[in-house]
Amino acid sequence: MFSENRPALFLAPLAGITDSAFRQTCKEYGADYTVSEMISAKGLYYRDKKTGNLLRFEECERPIGIQVFGSEPDIVAFAVREITEKNKPDFIDINMGCPMPKIVNNGDGSALLKNPKQIFAVVSAARKATSLPLSVKIRKGFYENEETAPENAKVIESAGADFITVHGRTREQMYSGLSDAETIRKTKQAVSIPVIANGDVFSADDAGALLQKTDCDGVMVARGALGNPFIFEEIKSLFEKKPYTPPSGRQRLDAALRHIRLSCEKKGEKIAIPEARKHMAWYIKGMRGASKAKTRIFTAKTLSELEEIIAEFATNLQ
Ligand SMILES: Cc1cc2nc3c(=O)[nH]c(=O)nc-3n(C[C@H](O)[C@H](O)[C@H](O)COP(=O)(O)O)c2cc1C
Repeated sequence: MFSENRPALFLAPLAGITDSAFRQTCKEYGADYTVSEMISAKGLYYRDKKTGNLLRFEECERPIGIQVFGSEPDIVAFAVREITEKNKPDFIDINMGCPMPKIVNNGDGSALLKNPKQIFAVVSAARKATSLPLSVKIRKGFYENEETAPENAKVIESAGADFITVHGRTREQMYSGLSDAETIRKTKQAVSIPVIANGDVFSADDAGALLQKTDCDGVMVARGALGNPFIFEEIKSLFEKKPYTPPSGRQRLDAALRHIRLSCEKKGEKIAIPEARKHMAWYIKGMRGASKAKTRIFTAKTLSELEEIIAEFATNLQ
């Protein structure tokens, strides 16, 4: 799956954010791989309609991974088998990092980090259910100051996964503090399958520094891509030693509008516009007049209202 020539560049899975329209936008700007929002194995098993909608992707999003969460081996295996047969993504990822209480209290997501036996059971069951590349996304550990990632990675490798992504924060840290590159480096050292480094990449320099510190096979960008799909072009230019010119304000706004229009085509304005407000606010963050425009963006109900606000905002840029 990975090229020998340069590190792989992933858009991270982000629940409520990395839908088809955003994935396509990030691909357009150079992401090598994208991953779906996390999908409940149980939701698939019980034929939840919302869960089914999250599985849709377009051919132009390939190579794409679908991320599943769950802790019951049989149910995870069911979901992995069904996704392999029906959706045919390029790889399947298992979420062992989600810190949200409603997920953790069910024994899913990062709760698995406390239980290597269960990790083995879940990954082995998933392995038997698919011949697609299989990856697992983990955190540094569960409790504050804990570092189980290298040991858990060994378990994951022995259960047959093809690669691992490590976010260098513990569950207790949620998204606070800094991601620990040293843990990611130790995890890479502990296994022979590829390891992707994740955490705090907000620029090409961050990506370069993280790869240098960890010696990993790729980087995964999450919050750094919010309102900034251009980050992939920036990082790719660094990898390929090519000059990079950041987009102008107008180019940013054009990209934002393309993203939002695509989302409206896919979901309809009633669903897409409330979701688009946060994206728009991220795209214009730091630009002149952004806070005033933001207030209006958060009241927009239709695509044409949003377009009007952005057109007016764009006149400030000259
Ligand atoms: C709003 C939000 C939603 C997220 N959803 C997911 C998810 O569905 N699956 C997952 O594995 N990680 C999820 N994450 C974690 C990110 O993929 C990533 O591991 C984390 O944000 C650290 O990377 P960053 O420092 O580049 O943001 C989410 C993070 C945020 C902030």
